[in-house]
Amino acid sequence: MEYSRLLQEPDNSNLDSFPGEYGIPFFGKMIQVVDDSVKLCQDHFNRFGPVSKIDLVKNQKVLLCLGPEFNEAALFDKDESFSSAAGYHNSLGTLYPEGMLLRDGSLHKKTRRASQPSFKTDALKSYVDLLLPIQQRRIEELPVNKEFLFYDAIQQTLMDVAARVFLGLDETSRMAKKLNHIFTTINKGLITPLPYRFPFSTYSRALKARERLRIYIQNNIPKRRGRDDVDMFTRYCNAKDEDGSFLDPIDIDGHIAFLMFAAFDTTTSALTNILYYLGTHTEWQDRVRNEINQIGKEDLTYEDASSMLQTEYVFNETMRFYPSVMILNRRTTKDIEIAGYEIPKNTILMLSPAFTHRMTEWWSNPETFDPLRFSPERAEHKRHGFNYIPFGGGAHKCIGMHFAQLNAKLYLFRLLKKYRVKLRDNYNPKFMHVHLPRPKDKLPIVLEEI
Ligand code: HEM
Repeated sequence: MEYSRLLQEPDNSNLDSFPGEYGIPFFGKMIQVVDDSVKLCQDHFNRFGPVSKIDLVKNQKVLLCLGPEFNEAALFDKDESFSSAAGYHNSLGTLYPEGMLLRDGSLHKKTRRASQPSFKTDALKSYVDLLLPIQQRRIEELPVNKEFLFYDAIQQTLMDVAARVFLGLDETSRMAKKLNHIFTTINKGLITPLPYRFPFSTYSRALKARERLRIYIQNNIPKRRGRDDVDMFTRYCNAKDEDGSFLDPIDIDGHIAFLMFAAFDTTTSALTNILYYLGTHTEWQDRVRNEINQIGKEDLTYEDASSMLQTEYVFNETMRFYPSVMILNRRTTKDIEIAGYEIPKNTILMLSPAFTHRMTEWWSNPETFDPLRFSPERAEHKRHGFNYIPFGGGAHKCIGMHFAQLNAKLYLFRLLKKYRVKLRDNYNPKFMHVHLPRPKDKLPIVLEEI
């Protein structure tokens, strides 16, 4: 399939034959998506059924496709009828054009193969040694018996992790701080409601920052070649193609930049929301702490982390309510039919993992926080191959899933061993949904020493 040629073709904007509602001029229904995407999906589902048209800012007409059947068709994509690149072209294409999600077919396979060594078990084990000292230092710096915003704190910790594990830098160095700033500036460009290139706009700054990151990465590739450091950047610099040659510097830059983007905010959101649920369901906080104490060690190994099942259930249940990526996109590459709906070529589909995760057909009491639904006895997440998709599915399924879980478990291990996490009385925050889900107030917490 000639994907680069397909990208030149415009999105199909003729969705007249579908039910639905576009929303207000220019903004479409973006305000509702940002405010509460699950509520919007529920409203469309009740009024129009599983497939409906909607407008997402700037006249971008898309088909909202709700439920596991659509998730499977678009993500598993057995007949190569979808493009991930064209689905994300409008949102990520300018800042991360060489990112893995922005590639399809054989080019995507090649990228994925070159990336695999950085995510195998040996590599994950080597990251444990990099993660532990960073997490320990950052947890020791947290205020005790004094309220602080957990989201800000975990964001700093994960910035350090990105500098060390992804780029192989001393996270306290000036260069790490400079690159953190560059990276933050790029990501502001992704969420600005006005992505226009006029002087000093957030978007123009983001493009400049992306260029600076590119220069840094490409200049450092020769220095990393031949080194046996375990960070991801050095691994990519030394990775070889099937024909035995090093990866193209443009690709190395593209992969590393996109990995940092894909890893950072998603894990920040996940850990913030996990602490929210552990703070509001203290019986589960105790349960996780018991599991941690039973391990009976000061430092966790990769194998210990794999044995933390109660923690894993909490992680999964948090991701059921608030999967870090709330909306997934694909574009059809041909006219197709799904569940009796005829969908034309070049139509953008919008999938909602969070809506699927709360469908009463697939989950018992979906509004209840109940981590044991993930236990082998109940396994509600396996009632359909695509009713639980916090990490996507099919060829583009998150390559960093195990790394994200490991990182979260190591962090929770150290934090909960030492501290009890307290939230404000009757805490009931409003959640934001886009760009990533989290309590709007950034989760104020108090840590009490145990
Ligand atoms: C809680 C944390 C995370 C969540 C919820 C998450 C979620 C996702 C989802 C839903 C996708 C698929 C998107 C789609 O198909 O449209 C994805 C893809 C991806 N994720 Fe993650 N992610 C997380 C952490 C990470 C981490 C830590 C890394 C890297 C270390 C990472 C790297 C990637 C990459 C490179 C892709 C694209 C894969 C491909 O196109 O083949 N993610 N992630």
